Amino acid sequence: MWKKIFGKAPLPKNEAALLDIERSRLPRHVAVIMDGNGRWAKGQGFLRTVGHRAGVDTLHDILDTAIDLKLEVLTVYAFSTENWKRPHEEVDFLMRLFSEYLDKEEREMHEKNVRIRFIGRVDELTPELIQRVRHAESLMKDNTGVNFCVAVNYGGQDEICRTAQELARKVQEGALSPEEITPESFETALDTKELPPVDLVIRTSGDMRLSNFLLWQTAYAEFWFTETNWPDFKPACFLEAIRDYAGRERRFGGIKGK
Ligand code: IPE
Ligand code: IPE
Ligand code: MG
Repeated sequence: MWKKIFGKAPLPKNEAALLDIERSRLPRHVAVIMDGNGRWAKGQGFLRTVGHRAGVDTLHDILDTAIDLKLEVLTVYAFSTENWKRPHEEVDFLMRLFSEYLDKEEREMHEKNVRIRFIGRVDELTPELIQRVRHAESLMKDNTGVNFCVAVNYGGQDEICRTAQELARKVQEGALSPEEITPESFETALDTKELPPVDLVIRTSGDMRLSNFLLWQTAYAEFWFTETNWPDFKPACFLEAIRDYAGRERRFGGIKGK
């Protein structure tokens, strides 16, 4: 069975659901730093943009695997607040690619009962992209399957500052006392409100850092790194990370077995 899943053959439909992992050991929330599109393209003698296109195909297959596994939340890092430093042409290409991706995939996602959400400063994107994002969110708002959370123009520090500002305004208006700002109340004002904390962070392409991703939500997350570049990250790799997670013991500051 294991060999079948991790063999070279493509993962047959619903095979993921057959993973012999107890449901209670599966992560509720998996967050993925989809890195290495540029290195993948360079390695093949292509332009970086070719890598980003290939990365979109990977995302399609990983979302399908999350659906098969009935994961509660899959969050993906698509564009960071720092990624604006890249050449204009690459940024423009990525923005057009997001728009195209939503255009092409939203119907299928909706049919698969996915609920898409976006986190980050969506309001700073192009008007066309904002419209696409809002359209996809409202189309899928009543869906009850996988919560697919896309971080675009997202930075963890930025999110924490925006949240602090919102709470500070409430204190100023007299609607909240400073003592009422607690980890629990803070959490309910983050972009990820309504979502459980991150259980597992996956980063592809060999770098071992968070790059300003979900700083608050990963406080007790487990991490899994792989050298594989995102375009080569197959469903079997995703399942390997989840299987590894399922075998870990999480203590949350407590003591083993207690
Ligand atoms: C990740 O791949 C995609 C985005 C950041 C948008 P990169 O573009 O960072 O690829 P590398 O890290 O340069 O290989
Ligand atoms: C993180 O990757 C952001 C995304 C995957 C969208 P980067 O490629 O931007 O991260 P750094 O610059 O190597 O830390
Ligand atoms: Mg990178």
